[in-house]
Amino acid sequence: MDFNNTNDFVSGFWSLYVIVITLGSVIGCTVFLLVQDKAKTNVGNTTGHLWDETLEEYNNPLPNWWRWMFYITLVFAFAYLALYPGLGNFGGTFGWSMRGQWDGEMKKADEQYAPIFNKFLKQDIRAVAANPEAKEIGQRLFLTYCTQCHGSDAKGGKGFPNLADSDWLWGGTPDKVKESITKGRDAMMPAKGTKPDLTADETKDLANYVRSLSGMPADATRAQKGKELFPAACAACHGPEGKGNVGLAPNLTDKVWLYGSSEAEIVNGITHGRVNRMPAWGEFLGEAKVHLLTAYVYGLGGGVKEDAAPAEAAPAAAEPAAAPAAPAVAEKK
Ligand code: HEC
Ligand code: HEC
Repeated sequence: MDFNNTNDFVSGFWSLYVIVITLGSVIGCTVFLLVQDKAKTNVGNTTGHLWDETLEEYNNPLPNWWRWMFYITLVFAFAYLALYPGLGNFGGTFGWSMRGQWDGEMKKADEQYAPIFNKFLKQDIRAVAANPEAKEIGQRLFLTYCTQCHGSDAKGGKGFPNLADSDWLWGGTPDKVKESITKGRDAMMPAKGTKPDLTADETKDLANYVRSLSGMPADATRAQKGKELFPAACAACHGPEGKGNVGLAPNLTDKVWLYGSSEAEIVNGITHGRVNRMPAWGEFLGEAKVHLLTAYVYGLGGGVKEDAAPAEAAPAAAEPAAAPAAPAVAEKK
């Protein structure tokens, strides 16, 4: 369907239907007004209504000034319907459309801002992250598109990761951050991990073991039982020691919790699984804005620190801090 026209009807019938009703009403009003005009009256011609014994209603035509106002609105209606969309599929001789006006405004804004955005697109993320002007633009973009989930300080909330720390679910190198923003991310932890026959009691054991991993108070007997269950149920994703795998499942041994660290919350997660989604922004925002957002997020302080994501840190350090890295992500789209 052609979305450039707001007046698109799926079938010709509805277009005709609208034209007939619209023109019918305007023409009907015109005829009615003309007919009423002709009804000249003489004194004593009343409608026959009588109130309060002597109060009668004369059957006179409208005063001229009033009648002419009606004629003017009718002329306006015909002129408007000829020039602007209003009659079914007929787009009006001006060719105006809401969508067209919006496109025009967007094009103007793009022309105005594109040079500024594109200037940064040619620079390496690390350089952009260090540029105060880019940071300001990045922050504005972030406040517009990202705060509803990640918070205005980017520190996230339950189910929405903190982007300002050095703990990364998907990797904190410029490339990985850009990939997260461009393509979005889907996280899926199946209910009961890889052991569908887990009992409620075993789930509790596992929760206590998970808590013990980051040094939190836990029931020692349960934690021991949980430890024995962990390899079969959880290790495939969270690793044999629960240290997680960037891009697969979070580290359970650190103090960073996406959903909360209480026994009840962990039991809840194991019982029902976790499904989470970061929307993809590449197509909607375009590469230049994504580049600025990547730099902004990267520059928040979490841009990969070696100990936070060992799997990512090594290639990141080896990678030359050069521009070719950036377009590579976009090409993969
Ligand atoms: C509708 C909510 C939502 C919006 C809006 C949103 N995000 Fe996300 N984002 C998420 C969720 C949920 C995750 C975590 C996915 C997961 O659990 O793995 C995430 C993850 C991320 C990650 C990966 C974090 C990591 O630890 O690896 C980055 C980077 C990110 N978002 C940046 C952004 C940016 C930049 C924007 C604005 C353009 C944005 N997000 C807008 C929900 C959102
Ligand atoms: C198929 C891979 C997979 C398996 C198996 C798996 N998990 Fe997960 N787990 C994940 C993913 C992915 C997440 C993150 C979900 C998100 O980002 O929203 C997660 C999140 C969690 C969290 C939340 C961490 C936080 O920061 O709040 C806990 C706790 C957890 N898993 C424990 C377990 C336990 C215990 C098991 C074994 C019963 C298990 N997982 C099995 C993939 C897995």
